[in-house]
Amino acid sequence: MRTDTGRIIHLADYRPTDFVLERVDLTFELDPTETKVEARLIFHRREGADPSAPLVLDGDDLNMTGLMFDQVELAAERYTATPESLTIRDLPETAPFEITVTTQINPEANTQLMGLYRSNGIYCTQCEAEGFRRITYFPDRPDVLAVYTVNIIADKDTNPLLLSNGNFLGGAGYGPGKHFAAWFDPHPKPSYLFALVAGDLGVVEDTFTTMSGREVALKIYVEHGKEARAAYAMDALKRSMKWDEEVFGREYDLDIFMIVAVSDFNMGAMENKGLNIFNDKYVLADPETATDQDYANIEAIIAHEYFHNWTGNRITCRDWFQLCLKEGLTVYRDHEFSADQRSRPVKRIAEVRHLRSEQFPEDAGPLAHPVRPTAYREINNFYTTTVYEKGSEVTRMIATILGRDGFKKGMDLYFERHDGEAATVEDFVKSFEDANGRDLKQFSLWYNQAGTPQITVSSSYDAAAKTLTLSLEQMIPATPGQSNKEPMHIPLRFALIGANGGEQAPTSVTGGEVSGDVLHLTERSQTVVFSGIASRPVVSLNRSFSAPVTLHFSQTTDDLALIARFETDLFSRWQAITDLALPNLTAAAGAAAKGKPISCDKGLLDALLAIAADESLEPAFRAQALTLPSESDIARELGSNNDPDAIHAGRQGILKEIAVAGAATFEALYKGLVSDAAYSPDAASAGRRSLRNAALGFLALSENTPVAAAEAFAKADNMTDLSQALTVLAHRFPDSPETHAALASFETRFASNALVLDKWFQIQATIPGDGSLDRIMRLMQSPNFIASNPNRVRALIGTFAFGNPTGFNRADGTAYRFFAEQVLAIDKRNPQLAARLLTAMRSWRLLEPTRADHAREALMTIERSASLSNDVRDIVDRTLK
Ligand code: ARG
Ligand code: ZN
Repeated sequence: MRTDTGRIIHLADYRPTDFVLERVDLTFELDPTETKVEARLIFHRREGADPSAPLVLDGDDLNMTGLMFDQVELAAERYTATPESLTIRDLPETAPFEITVTTQINPEANTQLMGLYRSNGIYCTQCEAEGFRRITYFPDRPDVLAVYTVNIIADKDTNPLLLSNGNFLGGAGYGPGKHFAAWFDPHPKPSYLFALVAGDLGVVEDTFTTMSGREVALKIYVEHGKEARAAYAMDALKRSMKWDEEVFGREYDLDIFMIVAVSDFNMGAMENKGLNIFNDKYVLADPETATDQDYANIEAIIAHEYFHNWTGNRITCRDWFQLCLKEGLTVYRDHEFSADQRSRPVKRIAEVRHLRSEQFPEDAGPLAHPVRPTAYREINNFYTTTVYEKGSEVTRMIATILGRDGFKKGMDLYFERHDGEAATVEDFVKSFEDANGRDLKQFSLWYNQAGTPQITVSSSYDAAAKTLTLSLEQMIPATPGQSNKEPMHIPLRFALIGANGGEQAPTSVTGGEVSGDVLHLTERSQTVVFSGIASRPVVSLNRSFSAPVTLHFSQTTDDLALIARFETDLFSRWQAITDLALPNLTAAAGAAAKGKPISCDKGLLDALLAIAADESLEPAFRAQALTLPSESDIARELGSNNDPDAIHAGRQGILKEIAVAGAATFEALYKGLVSDAAYSPDAASAGRRSLRNAALGFLALSENTPVAAAEAFAKADNMTDLSQALTVLAHRFPDSPETHAALASFETRFASNALVLDKWFQIQATIPGDGSLDRIMRLMQSPNFIASNPNRVRALIGTFAFGNPTGFNRADGTAYRFFAEQVLAIDKRNPQLAARLLTAMRSWRLLEPTRADHAREALMTIERSASLSNDVRDIVDRTLK
């Protein structure tokens, strides 16, 4: 385990290495418990570097078994080796020299899943961010780029497959029972992009011809017998390659592109050069076992990792503070890809839902940090929704400000200038400035100031003068380490909508820059006057969610209903429905807390049911509109002193009213959207299923028996419908015999499929109410609960903590205590997983006082533990601060 030194790394302390790494030759002799790694590294001292500076290489838990300097064993007085570092002194002033380090590592015992580990008989690696130093001593930082040759020697029977980055050089037998393979990656890369895979796997093969006519071999490796389930991933890969050529002009640059799916993986996937390694959850799919959401995730993540080949690999990050340079940009690229492959507005709604439910709470709590942080104690804790999703939004705003062509020019210049380099956020922004002749200095504050900007808006119409006046004020809340913030450059798309639904164009505008439908808010407070407006318009602001902000704009129910009905921007129509719903939901929570009756505005009911039944709208959009803000959205709206039970009861009350009022509509939708066609995962079919399943959810609320849901479960012929029906049964009728029977049959039917069993755990982990904790503890005793598998731990314990507000926040605090024990236990095996789970407690201060006290107690139990990983120590300290 990485020792907790309490050391903080600061962006301001960045300086280049004293030595330049020219070449890397690695030889692995694989063995489950005693793998030998020989690293031959050629260095020379950087021009201008201190001629007496020693070479200091990073290590983590390493055991050195040999060290040579220019092929000769190095004298003991010239070096110091500890598990964490190797320091070599008295090195040449200018001449290149070769260091050969040998280490011995134990892949089987590597439960952290960082570095080289063995899972289900497959050797694989995860080196981002600092896993390579668990393999050998190395300048393990992203600004050290080198060309790698990799030799792998292993038992032939158990490891017919030997893979690494780049192009295959050759292979042969190697003594009795063994063989070797050599790989060469011509593209200089940092160590975090190194990968090795060995074992016995099945393969799906295809080819892709690039825009310049080169044929690339495509291979997806999966466990034997699962090949058919990789077909969709392969299809998504080819579409990604094509799209990156067409939209960003980026061509693939090796002869082969490989993806390997493994079942024990700490995150989603990893973009190692030419050899992506994936959590198999984001590769494997077929109609019987994967939901529409699974298909969409696979498409997005396959694309994301592929797109990294240019944004991340060809141009990498100078240091880990620049993480958003590759992640925010690559998320933006995968969002655009999915929008082009599917429905753009529906995709946008889903993105914003995700941003609000995950990133906004992060930005408003103790773990808030800028998109580009300036200090960290454990970099693994900065793979956050702020770096990824807010980072993507910042990229999107650049595109909004510069327009499609301006954005393209900036990207082209960025690729041209920085290909082969380790770049910074400044380099990125400068490319857009230089390509467009536009100053983005104020805009850059988005990278440096944490917190979600709060924009207060009011509007007034002067009928005599025919002017509309918009007054806007921005406020960026204080966040840890940042109390005073500068006003930011916030691009707000808008429309002025007339009573008949048509848009009104002003003849002139004063008080700020308005270009096309973008209003640029740059001052702390700004008054914008639109002239030539013939009649009072309704203002639709932040169309398509052009800026990741919270608007405080009290619009009347009538105005919102008009937007919900007429906006041509579908995102804004959905937003208007949300704005109509939220006051109903918060009032309902208040009523529930006082035991008063819950009621729902007729305006909301009418708007919702009109959209539900509107055949001119795509089904996926209608399903989104029917999915009301979540319990955590309502908690965020309420701000503080939250009582999750009241929020839940209030929301259920509103849903019930909608269900009763719309019973006929939902019945018609449920019956009318049946399909006889064979399952297809395309967006339109998925949209119909999502609307039909939303209708089923409402039907179950207005009915008092599980009959309809049980029937839906029995009739389902694909995993989307099956898991939805099971969710409705389990959540609405948790104790019914029908639910028990359905859960049991599901478990038996999918006993051999880990990814489907994860769903079985997830569905039960989210059953609301006080009974949840006992259920979770019971499920942990199930033979199917495998504590060493991160997906399973996340499915049960993670889903409970993140996705079951009433169960997790039990008023007596027992679930927090249970959770603290779990985090401590998981920390012993896998610190990254434990730290990630613990972030579920980041909003504890917003709870009502009794729960908040219990939560603090549980956090302090963790904090008091004598042996915490650096990862968990960092999260718990910041969460309590
Ligand atoms: N770069 C990988 C991805 O795009 C994620 C790696 C996460 N690594 C970590 N140590 N948390 O998406
Ligand atoms: Zn990424």
